[in-house]
Amino acid sequence: MSQLKTAAQFFALRTLVRGYALLGDPYAGVMASPPNRDPYPMYEKVRAKGDMVRSRMGAYVTGSREICDSVLRDNRFVTATFDEASMVSITLVQNGEKIVNPVQDSFLMKNPPDHTRLRKLVQPFFTPRALKDRTTSIQKIVTDHLDRLGDRFDVVTEFASQVPIQVIADLLGVPDGHQDVFARWGSALAETLDGVWSHQQLKNLHATIIEYNDFIDDLIAERRRSPQDDIVSHLVTQHEDLSREDLVATTGLLLFAGFETTVNLISNGVLKAFENPHTVAPLSQSPEYAEGFVEEVLRLDPPVQYTIRWPGERLELAGVSLPKGMPVMLMLAAANRDPKVFRDPAKFDPTRSNAREHLAFSAGIHYCIGAGLSRIEGQLALHELFKRFPNLAADGPVTRRKSKLIRGALRLPVRAGETKRSLAVN
Ligand code: HEM
Repeated sequence: MSQLKTAAQFFALRTLVRGYALLGDPYAGVMASPPNRDPYPMYEKVRAKGDMVRSRMGAYVTGSREICDSVLRDNRFVTATFDEASMVSITLVQNGEKIVNPVQDSFLMKNPPDHTRLRKLVQPFFTPRALKDRTTSIQKIVTDHLDRLGDRFDVVTEFASQVPIQVIADLLGVPDGHQDVFARWGSALAETLDGVWSHQQLKNLHATIIEYNDFIDDLIAERRRSPQDDIVSHLVTQHEDLSREDLVATTGLLLFAGFETTVNLISNGVLKAFENPHTVAPLSQSPEYAEGFVEEVLRLDPPVQYTIRWPGERLELAGVSLPKGMPVMLMLAAANRDPKVFRDPAKFDPTRSNAREHLAFSAGIHYCIGAGLSRIEGQLALHELFKRFPNLAADGPVTRRKSKLIRGALRLPVRAGETKRSLAVN
């Protein structure tokens, strides 16, 4: 482990960011905003300052859909190592073997040619054909989880997280029974995606990554012994030259990206249905309406709020000269409300014709590999949930996730009201 920050350095960093946020700095504003504060008014303030807003923290911020899209598709912009992104190095070694970080070391954070090589290995599992073949099993997972719910339950912990965890676990070849531990690891990882801000967070992150490495090493060994029809078996049998680091990081990326995002699509969808009661009946009755509903949730309240790119060379962007390495924060959630593209952008309208122009899944070479899968999961989960519980209602305050990058609920207590159990299984 190197370059660990001391408690004093963490304190100084937090104080600096909060100070800049108070002064209206856009980058610090995003980083310092409290979990329960609605971030969208702040994004609008940034938009009002222009398309490319300079932060005193040595970055540019943009909420323009056009600029975000062009940066994401421009290979002169690169993804950085976690070191640059989080200002803390987290390389760990155990028994002489590198402890692989499923985010930092994965192809999400790599550039071509490594990115291209690794993404290609798992792409076949996410083609439209492959997804079509999985739809029946996803439907069954949704129904099985609905069957387990009582009159009062927590949407996030008992449904929205359970469905995507089961889906991605099946796809990877993880045996049943790991739901709770994955949810705990996922939270620890997601919390640190926008930086590590305290020693406690760092300790949790390290413990999580070590536990994950032990777990996945065992699974890899098991699948080498008895391969099945799943991603881990495919990687160990068809790509024997793959390094341990690439294998552990690729499977870890799929695991955590596979559920830590989709859980929020589902919970944000439930919240949007509560805020817009007129959408509940069509959502519960029509799978086609559910498609538009999910697209509009992705646009209006996306699970991934921003991403960052770094110019790999000095270049011009929207009239600004960017030196090599200057971070550009692409506020996807703000781009999705760009009034130049979306009419009445703050309105939730599941029948909006151009909702799919959102950037919730990014664009360019890092476009989300799981976009199709999470659309199916979100549509089935929300359609079936409201079909089963047409009177679903909030039953207590919503607790938000701490992360600024990942937006969604941590707890969302509901009561079912009158149910339609007999109608739900078809
Ligand atoms: C609503 C659900 C989801 C959202 C909002 C989402 C969002 C994103 C975004 C914004 C990126 C790109 C980040 C960037 O450009 O810096 C991304 C990449 C990625 N996502 Fe998703 N994702 C979702 C679901 C999934 C699922 C279900 C899986 C896997 C089963 C998945 C796997 C990945 C992978 C592997 C990448 C890296 C792609 C690359 O670097 O080439 N995601 N996702």
